[in-house]
Amino acid sequence: MNNLFSLKNQTILVTGSLGLIGKEITKSLYDFGSNLILTDIHDEDFYNKNYEKTLINITANNNQKILYKQADITSSDSILELIDFSEKKFNRIDTLINLAGTDAKIEDELNINLGSFEDFPIELWEKSINVNVNGVFNITQSVGKHMKKHKSGNIILTASTYSLVSPNPNLYNDTNSNNRINKPIDYVASKSIIPNYTRYLATHLSKYGIRANYVVPHGIENKNPQWFKDNFEKLSPLSRMCNVNELCGPYVFLASKASSYMNGASLVVDGGWTAW
Ligand SMILES: NC(=O)c1ccc[n+]([C@@H]2O[C@H](COP(=O)([O-])OP(=O)(O)OC[C@H]3O[C@@H](n4cnc5c(N)ncnc54)[C@H](O)[C@@H]3O)[C@@H](O)[C@H]2O)c1
Repeated sequence: MNNLFSLKNQTILVTGSLGLIGKEITKSLYDFGSNLILTDIHDEDFYNKNYEKTLINITANNNQKILYKQADITSSDSILELIDFSEKKFNRIDTLINLAGTDAKIEDELNINLGSFEDFPIELWEKSINVNVNGVFNITQSVGKHMKKHKSGNIILTASTYSLVSPNPNLYNDTNSNNRINKPIDYVASKSIIPNYTRYLATHLSKYGIRANYVVPHGIENKNPQWFKDNFEKLSPLSRMCNVNELCGPYVFLASKASSYMNGASLVVDGGWTAW
């Protein structure tokens, strides 16, 4: 495949690869020719049971490889093992895509005033900061060192519209039950670093042949209640939520040489949410 978007002969490391976006974009990265090191906090058994089967058909007929290795991005030791594994299996990591992230789940963790800022517990704040800030630092620092050794690399981080603007309270207002849920602050605060953090990487690692950019996804449909979809429709310029496969093109583009002059930039995939 000789086209601008080809990922042939590239090895791409994807964190958070077993999540909603990860499961979808890894298939496209593979279709465009890359080898893949998939990683997530879940162990190999979980991967084998839930995921490997979906990849068997695509791995059967050629010599591209997909390997899975458990790693926790908040642990330096775990990341060092992951890099060691990657070097042994593929020699080098060409591109890092960081999808691993977390947020306080309103339903499971927060029954205190449905996530209100005034009552938000610092423990949940710290949990998100640990993954979305410390974890991002950890993985990019270690993979950055690895890329520096090879004098080239491509780092793709994942922000959110809530890295750019505040959640609109009207999106979280369930008019049927008169419940006003608050999108909690932990996610908004911890995702806010991504844009400027990426610019720092872009301007401080470029001397080693490493570029860095970030994607801004928004509102991916995933079994959302109808009232939420109705609110979303009213507030979004495209009048709908995002289908997860609409993120494949943006990640493939940033991983490929089609985006070779992009550095420190954002690729906003939000249906126009931040455009008005
Ligand atoms: N889904 C959306 O609508 C949306 C919108 C904007 C931005 N994003 C961002 O996109 C990224 C992926 O989102 P998603 O919807 O696929 O989320 P997801 O929760 O489905 O997947 C995230 C993955 O990260 C993994 N993870 C969490 N903590 C980890 C750790 N410490 N080490 C390693 N892995 C860890 C989880 O196990 C999970 O598989 C996230 O960074 C998220 O903030 C998502």
